[in-house]
Amino acid sequence: MPCWSAADITLTKKVAHFEGDSEFKGQIIHSHDYRDPRGYEEKRVVVVGIGNSGGDVAVELGKVAKQVYLSTRRGSWIIHRVWDNGLPLDANFSRFRFYYLANILPLSWQNTQYEKQVEAKFDHELYGLKPAHRFFEAHPTLNDDLPNRIISGAVIVKPDIERLTTTGVIFNDGSEVKDIDTIITATGYVFGFPFIDHPALKVKENEVNLYQYVFHPDIEPSGSLAVIGCFQPVGNIGAIAELQARWAIQIIKGNCSLPSKEEMSKEIEMRREHLSKIYYKSSRHTIQLFPVPYQIKISELMGCKPNLLKLWITDPKLAYHVLFDMYTPFQNRLVGPGAWPGAREAIITSMDRVRCPYKTRKPAQNHSETRLWAKIILFGIILLVLAFLWR
Ligand SMILES: NC(=O)c1ccc[n+]([C@@H]2O[C@H](COP(=O)([O-])OP(=O)(O)OC[C@H]3O[C@@H](n4cnc5c(N)ncnc54)[C@H](OP(=O)(O)O)[C@@H]3O)[C@@H](O)[C@H]2O)c1
Repeated sequence: MPCWSAADITLTKKVAHFEGDSEFKGQIIHSHDYRDPRGYEEKRVVVVGIGNSGGDVAVELGKVAKQVYLSTRRGSWIIHRVWDNGLPLDANFSRFRFYYLANILPLSWQNTQYEKQVEAKFDHELYGLKPAHRFFEAHPTLNDDLPNRIISGAVIVKPDIERLTTTGVIFNDGSEVKDIDTIITATGYVFGFPFIDHPALKVKENEVNLYQYVFHPDIEPSGSLAVIGCFQPVGNIGAIAELQARWAIQIIKGNCSLPSKEEMSKEIEMRREHLSKIYYKSSRHTIQLFPVPYQIKISELMGCKPNLLKLWITDPKLAYHVLFDMYTPFQNRLVGPGAWPGAREAIITSMDRVRCPYKTRKPAQNHSETRLWAKIILFGIILLVLAFLWR
């Protein structure tokens, strides 16, 4: 069976062209070709684009270069990696409870809450970064250092580029910066599968028709080709790609089956419609996914999704950790194909591992086990009261 690695999914630089770029005497490179800040000391640099690459490059160069300008045509909400209680953002967002609340609460309300939260760190309008789009309408830009670099003057935020001159840049607000050595276009990528000669896998504007981001409905026999890792998550890629691979193996082995071609195409269309309702239109947003709901869906399709209600009755401690801690791949190892006896322990201790690197100084007292049982009992009482009221 042929197998191509994820590296074969070709990412091509999305090159931006500017009026006057042929007369510009400095260097223009894509962020893909940027390696490290060495050689940029004493340089004046314009970074274009405020995705994660643009933010990272601007911040890194802001520490060594003579001056960095960050050009953004749209602005962005800047999200901190160090999130609530100092935990990594993933540990907060990748939770069942986040997923359930996200499903229940109106998106506009959620947008307002998250906008307030990031605005509390710094006023995006004051920093010249406030976008017209709402919080969840774009792939997030994570950057803890950007406001520090801006407030120290190392990075200066500018609007879209109008045109280049021989040695500088004129922006669309009429302002001009001179003596620019390098322009780094952090303008993203286009992807494709040039090594597979099949009309179904021709990609245009980053649009690809894959059922659950894995199987193409038009490839015969159904399920004979699986694409792993062709998605852009708001979170961790590895765990999701692993689950996709496990699912693909179950399909290939014949242990579970795919729906009909029509149903697969319908799912693709519905997802496209859903994405177009959430995100602003851009080739950046064609393969977006939220990790928790997607993993729940795939685990359901391959038969390894734990039954939460049953878990609450048989093992409340485990159920509590499943529901309130980070969503980890171990949750899909409790039951079904690939079940692993160590999964329970791994789930219960997952937040310990998240907290482990912080524990460089022993706290005076530790009440965490008592607190945990108090929470489990309280939650159980709430469930009982709700069940009683429901009758
Ligand atoms: N630290 C990290 O975790 C990290 C670091 C780097 C990259 N990544 C990931 O790698 C992927 C690619 O990120 P990326 O930042 O390279 O690309 P990206 O997310 O596609 O962002 C591209 C940026 O360039 C702008 N842009 C595109 N064409 C432009 C043009 N012609 N003129 C002006 N601006 C233009 C876009 O603005 P519009 O929105 O207006 O189009 C956007 O701000 C993402 O999934 C990202 O999360 C992660």
